[in-house]
Amino acid sequence: MTRGVDRAVNIAGLRRLAKRRLPAFSFDYVDGSAEDEISGADNRRAFDDAKIVPRQLTGISEADPSTSLFGKEWAFPLAIAPTGYNGLLWRKGDVVLARQAANSGLIFTQSTMSSSSVEDVAEAAPGLRHWFQLYVLKDREATRTLVERARQAGCEALVVTTDVAALGNRERDKRHFVRPQVLSLRARLDIARRFHWCLNVALPGLPDFGNLREFLPKGAGALDGATYIAREMQGALSWRDIEWLRDIWPHRLVVKGLLHPEEAADAVRLGADAIVVSNHGGRQLDGAPSPLRVLDQVRSRVGGDCALLMDSGVRRGSDILKALARGADGVLSGRAMLYGLAAGGPDGVNTAIDILRSEFVRAMILSGVGSTRDIDARILFDPDGFIPSTGFSSHKNVMALARAGRDL
Ligand SMILES: Cc1cc2nc3c(=O)[nH]c(=O)nc-3n(C[C@H](O)[C@H](O)[C@H](O)COP(=O)(O)O)c2cc1C
Repeated sequence: MTRGVDRAVNIAGLRRLAKRRLPAFSFDYVDGSAEDEISGADNRRAFDDAKIVPRQLTGISEADPSTSLFGKEWAFPLAIAPTGYNGLLWRKGDVVLARQAANSGLIFTQSTMSSSSVEDVAEAAPGLRHWFQLYVLKDREATRTLVERARQAGCEALVVTTDVAALGNRERDKRHFVRPQVLSLRARLDIARRFHWCLNVALPGLPDFGNLREFLPKGAGALDGATYIAREMQGALSWRDIEWLRDIWPHRLVVKGLLHPEEAADAVRLGADAIVVSNHGGRQLDGAPSPLRVLDQVRSRVGGDCALLMDSGVRRGSDILKALARGADGVLSGRAMLYGLAAGGPDGVNTAIDILRSEFVRAMILSGVGSTRDIDARILFDPDGFIPSTGFSSHKNVMALARAGRDL
């Protein structure tokens, strides 16, 4: 086990290790949100504010965290969120994340901007529930090529990200650069102090963007890839783009990055199979609400048939329980997985998954729910202090015992 990872008792512990191991510029790339980081903080506050009212006398001592999505078994309602340039945190970071997801029965969403290509990940992680996140490119043929490659690699779902009409203003990132893509002297000196990172990431050669190689001249490196993305990414999308993608992608289509209940309902009307309610981890519009705050409104607009996922701020297993109680079918996790990856590669990712899974199971048991099917809004303490009746079977047991005249 990578040193220190075995002593991490929670995601915050993995974050501390990641901060120690990574150069500051790359830690801030992961950890930072946009501008004043108000939305980043709200993502946590919303989970902290949501309270669970436990049911004690249920006799439940075990809980089954499994569920299903798109008709398939899902070991635990957690998917690894798409995050670009994971090779900056650990060599072949995408492959590491994908393999651990496959071993744990989770879904791995690979970013368009991943360091490894979609083909390399599919080959390295057989049996993986592999989703491909698409950033639409201005060049329609190049976009079509990416979609076709995802199909050929066996991806189950295409996840189109909709919340990057303009790139978020990430001020923490800017502090490490004298101009775009040129690190300050201070940032370079800091790199020299991170011996393990240099050995693991920098010395073998900085990663590039595996999915974009075919659009770049031979031998192009990370900087050329970043320049290509900045120039070629079609930030602002419209409903026509969603319609077009629905036409060219015959499998599951997931629309990521919506917060407005009306937009979510419109996406479902155009054929989306799932929505990811997300504020991009607070990295785009600073001031956007935490997705947890709008989740129940989105659920009531899209109805019960559409799969609803959420992300932004998940750091505890109890957060997953709260998201499910507010109407989600599952959550995506970005940073919690990346802290694990940076802290200790495969060991770190495994530890992050184990922590979230065991916290989720414990929170289920303590809340008196034995199965994910039984999680709903009735376990939550609502802001007005109203405690809804649960109608749980324990109550029926009490009544049955009372009727039988047993001594309670
Ligand atoms: C370092 C980093 C890179 C990201 N890159 C992408 C990306 O390439 N595509 C995308 O749709 N979202 C990207 N996201 C957003 C995540 O998919 C997800 O919405 C967010 O991380 C969820 O918040 P959390 O980190 O608090 O779990 C990125 C997030 C981080 C932290």
